[in-house]
Amino acid sequence: MKFNTDYNINNVGEVVTLNGWVAKVRNLGGVIFIDLRDRSGIMQLVVRPENDFYDLADSLHNEYVIKVTGEVVKRESINKNIPTGEIEIEVKTLELLNKSLEIPFALTDDTTSLEDTRLKYRYLDLRRTALNKNLILRHKIMMITRNYFDSLGFIEVETPMLCKSTPEGARDYLVPSRINKGKFYALPQSPQIFKQLLMVGGIMRYFQITKCFRDEDLRADRQPEFTQIDMEMSFVSEEDVMDVTEKLLAKIFKEIKGIDIKLPLLKMKWDDAINVYGSDKPDLRFDLPIKDITNIFNNTNIEFMKNVMVNAIVVNDKANEFSRKDIDKLTDFVKKYKASGLAYLKLEDELTGSIAKLLSDTEKSNLINELNLQKNDIVFIVSGKKNIVKSALGALRVKLAHDLNLIDPDEYKLLWVVDFPSFEWSEEEGRFMAMHHPFTAPKDEDVEKLLNDKEHCYSKAYDIVINGYEAGGGSIRIHDEAVQEKMFAALELTPQQVREKFGFFVDALKFGTPPHGGLAIGLDRLTMILAGTDNIRDVIAFPKTANANDLMSEAPSAVDAEQLKELGIKVSE
Ligand code: AMO
Repeated sequence: MKFNTDYNINNVGEVVTLNGWVAKVRNLGGVIFIDLRDRSGIMQLVVRPENDFYDLADSLHNEYVIKVTGEVVKRESINKNIPTGEIEIEVKTLELLNKSLEIPFALTDDTTSLEDTRLKYRYLDLRRTALNKNLILRHKIMMITRNYFDSLGFIEVETPMLCKSTPEGARDYLVPSRINKGKFYALPQSPQIFKQLLMVGGIMRYFQITKCFRDEDLRADRQPEFTQIDMEMSFVSEEDVMDVTEKLLAKIFKEIKGIDIKLPLLKMKWDDAINVYGSDKPDLRFDLPIKDITNIFNNTNIEFMKNVMVNAIVVNDKANEFSRKDIDKLTDFVKKYKASGLAYLKLEDELTGSIAKLLSDTEKSNLINELNLQKNDIVFIVSGKKNIVKSALGALRVKLAHDLNLIDPDEYKLLWVVDFPSFEWSEEEGRFMAMHHPFTAPKDEDVEKLLNDKEHCYSKAYDIVINGYEAGGGSIRIHDEAVQEKMFAALELTPQQVREKFGFFVDALKFGTPPHGGLAIGLDRLTMILAGTDNIRDVIAFPKTANANDLMSEAPSAVDAEQLKELGIKVSE
């Protein structure tokens, strides 16, 4: 059976059968025009007054389900906006297959109805071509992925959903066990441990398209359950994993967008990404680098620039476009990233702006020289602790690019961010935590730093970044027991804690574990980027809200007292 958009001008004269939903009915002085929607798009049907089915056609309402047979004819007035716009169907027979209640919102692509309403009736929302298209896109990415990995000798292996809760990472979703009262499974945050065990198990090349679950605060690009394209390989280096991954991405971009991605992709060190772009997922579709101008203020009299890092972003030739009000708004914006404020300078006939009067003549000329300032340039400056300065200016950089329309929506910039630090300092915990997970291998030359110089210990971890999104990440793993022990010690885990938390896994590593590494791509994020949306819910059939609710099924929900009793669980008020 064919879809609406399988027919075109070449089919004129054929008698065809079509099924679908009534998207619109218009009775134009006798002749009835029906827009018939199916998954592929719209087909115009024509029913004339002399047609036996005229009264039935006249009684149709939106979203009624119909079946028609009719002849494909050339349209008098062509509609260039739809693929079937050159033809229409002269209806011969019409059958009403089902009626529909009135739809609570307009099923148009440019719908303005609230997302919450659409999520409540997600099964209706899915009829919209835009959502439909996204699901087809997602399916295509999965098909390309499966074929690609298969062709390289990877096999898809499923791993458990009911797992052991392990620390380090996001919060787990827990599932109580009825048979083992008081005990809990955790839903997997990723198949990480299992895929490594598959390498111990000699699988050598594994992939899986699988659900992962993380109980974390949600954002526009995060869902509590999401899908990973997960893979792992034995006997490989960082380069090998990156090579396999970027070739997959290039294939996906080529087959879906017709775009040739130039390989190998750019590799940027994590330190450079943070220093120049203020982010470990830099958006390279625009420039606006962060410049370190701390040295200019070594002997400054400006109180808030003394003995701290001072960084700047220069926007060329746009000083006249920023009013005081605009700058106040940007100041509020950087404060969200804990910056104490946002200083600015404009080069007009001379330097003007919030700190112009405070600058010494040397500071002024150094700024003009080092930042190569030209007339009508504006400089935004943040001073303070390094991590605050970088993250505030990193976020400002992205905001400026959006506000100033510097981003070409059809452009894709992919890069690897490599050489991540092994650890990050946690203020909350007062200790160094694993930046990725505790099985990430340190750089060979940094093994000793695991214990004596954590701050400068770098790892064999890499992230794939597309247009400012972290689309995926992975690492080479530790396969050497002695290194793994050092890592646990670095994380201040006692042997007893290690035994409790990772016992079975640590044991497995002692039985001839091959060197191995891998990566996981966020399928939802990748689909989002290719679909050109910044809302992850647009590429998931049944997504959850930012509060982790499913508005349609009303999950999560309370459960029967009986169910809780069976599980031995009491809910405290
Ligand atoms: P990581 O935690 O970086 O790595 O996850 C891999 C990719 O999954 C996507 N992602 C998400 N997408 C939507 N909603 C979320 N809540 C969410 N969290 C993560 C991102 C991310 O880059 N086991 C390792 C991989 C490895 O080392 O092989 C892992 O899970 O696109």
